[in-house]
Amino acid sequence: MKPFSYKISVIGAGAVGATLAQRLFEYGLADVVLVDILKDLARGKALDLMDAASITRTEKSIIGTDDYEDISGSDIVVITAGFPRKPGMSREDLISKNALIVKDVAAKISQSAPKAIVIVVTNPLDVMTYLALKTTGFDKTKVMGMAGVLDGSRFITLIAEELKIRRSLVKTFVMGSHGDTMVPVISKTTVEGKPLSSVLSAEKIEGIVRRTCDRGAEIVSLLGTGSAYYSPSASALRMIRAIMDDCGEIVTASAYLEGEYGLSDICMGVPCRLDSRGVVEVVEFELSEQEKAAFSKSAKVVEGSIELLRARHLIHQQTVKDGAG
Ligand code: LAC
Repeated sequence: MKPFSYKISVIGAGAVGATLAQRLFEYGLADVVLVDILKDLARGKALDLMDAASITRTEKSIIGTDDYEDISGSDIVVITAGFPRKPGMSREDLISKNALIVKDVAAKISQSAPKAIVIVVTNPLDVMTYLALKTTGFDKTKVMGMAGVLDGSRFITLIAEELKIRRSLVKTFVMGSHGDTMVPVISKTTVEGKPLSSVLSAEKIEGIVRRTCDRGAEIVSLLGTGSAYYSPSASALRMIRAIMDDCGEIVTASAYLEGEYGLSDICMGVPCRLDSRGVVEVVEFELSEQEKAAFSKSAKVVEGSIELLRARHLIHQQTVKDGAG
């Protein structure tokens, strides 16, 4: 009997999608389907990865395709398709172009892989997650966005650099929208178990928060074309591992809220309990007054983007089913 193997489809064979496919395939985590509207690009990258398999020692399969039939039976589908930022652009500037792409992809996923868990990576992240949820009509547990893991890792990197300590000693959560209004939760950030505010001045922390918010743009301007992809693909992989390991770990993700943190009918970065069913719980932390205010401000940005999509008739009101399954 063939042992159970995860099937993971990655939509978009650009830098983030192809690097995620590489990570999944080379770690031997899943059979991988790399989908792109540019079929030959996806096929070329898949063949190239396959040719490395006898060296990287994986017996998994990988294919490149433009045919959504090939994603049928996927356990997880990751949406990376869409345009990246150019220097000087905000993530919100991508909304019009990427909404059409994500809507089309999400509709195809709901047809071809109706049981899949969907992880959205395309920017602007939170509103694209909302759009994917509404378009697929999937259960809210099944659709989430990747951002908090990435923003958290950037925050950790900069804190560790500042303190000249190991990154593994720093723990944090970055909530809110994946953009300039993201909310690194200082009250939940620790260094060797000690509160961050006891080892760094408020001024230093503020500087690091600013650099964390700007890190994506800093990389965009250095690369010249395209945006970050090593860290975004690693972050998506981190979420996939939490799902596959089925251990109920708390990982920050953009999730659909129905009253949690005082918000409803929105996707925002919040701590989520992840297991093989997806987001089984939005974990409500006690936030400081300042953090609560920053979180509400961040929500306003996402609400504005959702309104924009509604005005363009890209989101049709639809009841999201409740509960796991
Ligand atoms: C970034 C993009 C991927 O933060 O959102 O680099």
